[in-house]
Amino acid sequence: MATNGSVPTVTIRIQRFNPDADKKPYLQAFQVKAPPGKTILDALHEIKEEQDGSLTFRRSCRHAICGSCAMNVNGRHMLVCDAPLREHVDRHGVLTLRPLAYLPIIKDLVVDRTSFWEQYQRVKPWLIPPENIPEKEFRMSAEEVAALRDAEHCIMCGACYSSCQVIALTKQYIGPHALLKAFLRVLDPRDSAPAERLADLDRGDGVYRCHTIFNCIDACPKGLNPTEAIETLRKLVIKRGAFEAARAERQRRLDQPIEVVGEAPALSGGE
Ligand code: F3S
Ligand code: FES
Repeated sequence: MATNGSVPTVTIRIQRFNPDADKKPYLQAFQVKAPPGKTILDALHEIKEEQDGSLTFRRSCRHAICGSCAMNVNGRHMLVCDAPLREHVDRHGVLTLRPLAYLPIIKDLVVDRTSFWEQYQRVKPWLIPPENIPEKEFRMSAEEVAALRDAEHCIMCGACYSSCQVIALTKQYIGPHALLKAFLRVLDPRDSAPAERLADLDRGDGVYRCHTIFNCIDACPKGLNPTEAIETLRKLVIKRGAFEAARAERQRRLDQPIEVVGEAPALSGGE
């Protein structure tokens, strides 16, 4: 890390790939200043505006809520809009940025997320409400709300999906992101199709395809625990008949708060 006055200059190596011109990806080095408070995304914008306008990457919110800027930084997946540049420069003064792994590269740091969204759609991530919707409001217990809270924090950035080696090796797997959303709907007392959802997850590419590798936990920038959600779904798949009956009973009293139905694991890794 070189210094210019009190502001150091750092080297960022970025994986480049233009399918119209390149046979394979390569690393290109850029130099940027690294004042306090500057994020890796700020540095990418600076490089694009001042050094190479062809550099291609995704971003939108710049506040760690849209998930579009997820990429690999020195071997770890993260949201670069939430990653301070100085803190992530290693002791050699070099930062290496690559696109999310195991997904087809469209250009530079942009990957094709088609399979990711297809799996998300496949679990029907929307609420399927009962016919007898309460006149005023659904009433949920504190435990029921707590069971859903962490899964709701998933921002669909793709970091878990692209870190899972089952996805990399087989492509025949729903994936941790979609299973976390399935967990959210199965555990929601307002949802009227838990047995149908669990039956779908019982297929060859469902919950039993997870090999408990745990990469998804390490990769999640929100500190969530997809592995624990998948483990809970496995248990519910086995007893889905009883779970469906309990859900039907619960939905007869959706206008009243009662004790949680099913299990209510904490999925947060301590965000
Ligand atoms: Fe993949 Fe996470 Fe299971 S990394 S194999 S979904 S524990
Ligand atoms: Fe939205 Fe980073 S730009 S999460």
